[in-house]
Amino acid sequence: MTPLGRTSRKLLLAVHVLSASLWIGGVASLLVGALLHRHPATSDGLVVIRTTLQWVDRLVIVPACLVSLFTGLLFALGTPWGWFKHDWLTFKWAATVAMIVYGIVALGPWVDTCAELARGHGLGALADERYASLSLRVDASSVGQLALLVTMILLSSFKPSRLTGLGSPAKAPVDDG
Ligand code: HEM
Repeated sequence: MTPLGRTSRKLLLAVHVLSASLWIGGVASLLVGALLHRHPATSDGLVVIRTTLQWVDRLVIVPACLVSLFTGLLFALGTPWGWFKHDWLTFKWAATVAMIVYGIVALGPWVDTCAELARGHGLGALADERYASLSLRVDASSVGQLALLVTMILLSSFKPSRLTGLGSPAKAPVDDG
């Protein structure tokens, strides 16, 4: 791929940071929404909160994490950052791919099942062992994801300089004047 010019690189960074923000915001909403409405008073209340969380997952978290991955890919292909030259970048690759796979095989289906159980049984879902276990797993996973995402933001800001030895160092970021 031809190296990106200055403006394209700045635009890419803007889209990357926007997607990262939306990803964190989506996961935080999942957690706060579930915790604040743990025991709604009516079946309708439970259905509304669980359906809303399901759509936050589908419309915010899924697109945002895919855009983070895709823009990360463009950084690797079109800028001197490359693939695995820095430990912090390697960590970001591993954590991003791991979270996306986890979302596909576990977290997403759990969020969907909680919403389906709420729609099917109303408040009765709260007495269902499966619902209790899945909603707990969703909350615990959200805490774990938030911790990882915050770690990635810190790593991206500080860009600790230790290299992996898998390439020559990248020339610094776009904010060079
Ligand atoms: C495959 C995954 C990812 C790759 C390969 C990647 C790669 C990069 C690279 C190379 C930069 C530096 C761009 C520059 O300054 O020119 C960057 C910046 C940044 N990344 Fe990622 N990233 C990935 C995922 C994420 C995720 C999941 C988050 C959020 C939680 C994130 C948050 C950020 C932030 C906030 C910056 C801006 C830092 C700054 O400019 O000071 N990235 N990323």
